[in-house]
Amino acid sequence: MAVWRHKHLLGLADLTAEEIELVLSLAGPCKEIFGREIKKLPTLRGKTVITLFFEPSTRTRTSFEVAAKWLGADVVNLSVAQSSVAKGESFIDTAKTVEAAGADVIVVRHAIAGAAKLLAETVRCSVINAGDGAHEHPTQGLLDLYTIKERKGGFHGLRVVIVGDIMHSRVARSDIWGLTKLGAKVTVVGPPTLMPPGIETLGVEVAYELDAALARADGVNVLRLQLERQKKGLFPSVREYARLYGMNAERARRLPPDALIMHPGPTNLGVEITEEAACDPRAVITTQVSNGVAVRMALLYLLAGGKEDGLLS
Ligand code: CP
Repeated sequence: MAVWRHKHLLGLADLTAEEIELVLSLAGPCKEIFGREIKKLPTLRGKTVITLFFEPSTRTRTSFEVAAKWLGADVVNLSVAQSSVAKGESFIDTAKTVEAAGADVIVVRHAIAGAAKLLAETVRCSVINAGDGAHEHPTQGLLDLYTIKERKGGFHGLRVVIVGDIMHSRVARSDIWGLTKLGAKVTVVGPPTLMPPGIETLGVEVAYELDAALARADGVNVLRLQLERQKKGLFPSVREYARLYGMNAERARRLPPDALIMHPGPTNLGVEITEEAACDPRAVITTQVSNGVAVRMALLYLLAGGKEDGLLS
């Protein structure tokens, strides 16, 4: 079993396969908490987790809050729109202020790639990247990995298709790092204009036609179509995108019977995924959200230095 040596989590590119497996193995016991009547543990009592989100979030921010609270930590969610950022305070000064207010862990989301790294170089406390531009979203990657492992038992030889706007997707990058390190075969599928040049150097296959890729997939991760990119003319129309790359009932029928349908959320129903496909019995979209709490508990435990007598005691 690996030993955890990281102060921060900035990306899955920085973790070894053993370190990723360590987080996944700790997330298993954390998920047992869901079945308990009283969920609150004393593991991180006295620790303070502050979330600092410069972009909107439902799943990530909420699940970090639930995870930290179930572990007994105090949690503060800084509302950036109502903070002194609105008066012109810089990102760095905001982070230093948050640390001075007593943060042991800062969970940060920012539109700029590298923002979490900059923060980690600035503050003394731990930093978790909750999504930085199109760079990485490592805890989404970990919860996707956990969901696949939970349903499939492991990764070696598994074929995972990631479909959509690969170019702008931090989820795709974290999934690619994690899945390839753990031995899965990844195929990325999307329009050529949304496929970053050189992506195959990360060890993935590139395809532009979804139907053929689905026939052999053990799982398909459908990325949110970032509709704001539509303004840039990177694909002809949302309707055309849905026709060529959308996950729908017909495409779900092409998948092997035990394949997983995943989506990081939030979904644009009728665009990258139809309601029928999202409600397919093989879809695990809400399970991914629950698993996000378990994985984030495991990570907070590792970073915030839980008590020696164990995670769940
Ligand atoms: N998957 C994800 O990051 O969702 P939120 O934007 O709701 O946090």
